[in-house]
Amino acid sequence: MTEPGFLESTRASYDAIAVDYAARFADEPEARPLERAVLAEFASLVHGTVLEVGSGPGRVTALLDALGCKVFGIDLSPEMVALATRSYPGLKFEVGSMTALDMPDGALSGIVAWYSIIHIPDDLLPQVFAEFHRVLEPGGCLVVAFQVGDEPLCFAEAFGHAVALEVRRLQPDRIAELLTQAGFAVRARLVREAEGVETTPQGFLLALVDPKPGERDRREVGVVVENVALVVETEQGAQRFLAQLERVER
Ligand SMILES: C[S@@+](CC[C@H](N)C(=O)[O-])C[C@H]1O[C@@H](n2cnc3c(N)ncnc32)[C@H](O)[C@@H]1O
Repeated sequence: MTEPGFLESTRASYDAIAVDYAARFADEPEARPLERAVLAEFASLVHGTVLEVGSGPGRVTALLDALGCKVFGIDLSPEMVALATRSYPGLKFEVGSMTALDMPDGALSGIVAWYSIIHIPDDLLPQVFAEFHRVLEPGGCLVVAFQVGDEPLCFAEAFGHAVALEVRRLQPDRIAELLTQAGFAVRARLVREAEGVETTPQGFLLALVDPKPGERDRREVGVVVENVALVVETEQGAQRFLAQLERVER
């Protein structure tokens, strides 16, 4: 089967910028309490194998490992996989694509897609979310992170290298709807305002493989933490998230 062109160009682009990208984002998201709170909440919900899909330089995989997850990473770019393996020799990284995961149904307890679904064309997102759902066990947990917005960006150059890279900004409500259609129960949506050099708000969704679709007692509760609007499914969920945040901020 011929590989879709977007996979080829995304892979070649990240192969070209792997080293510079890793240096530029070396200290995130460890430096950001809200991001760490999202990942800490995820880590508290998973009990088996976890995949970081689109693991890039491996810093989020390493953070999940430090949070106690049994985690490995896959990435489309062999250069990123080589770099992550050099940086974190104790962790496993493999080449692969989220569009067709090479693993059996129900094999995973959790998936983190941290700024990686931003490279998937809109019409293929349902296929990717169906793939996440297929490889997660019932009750398994998914976190997705992305830039919030509507306009895609096309880069022909990055870090001084010629690339052909499309970055799609996404709307949390639409992603939540697609996840629900794929069989997930969305538990929390967090939108953080842009900080520093960022030009858009940042979105984070946490969802569980819905064991009984349509039978959930879904009661949304809103929480506001400074510049951040958060919607979680239950009062208990809100309290748990705030407790995580308090822990990482100390
Ligand atoms: C913006 S980087 C984020 C890397 C990492 N998650 C982090 O936050 O440091 C996006 C990564 O997703 C990978 N990627 C893009 N499309 C992918 C796909 N279809 N399957 C697996 N990885 C993909 C890229 O190669 C790149 O390493």
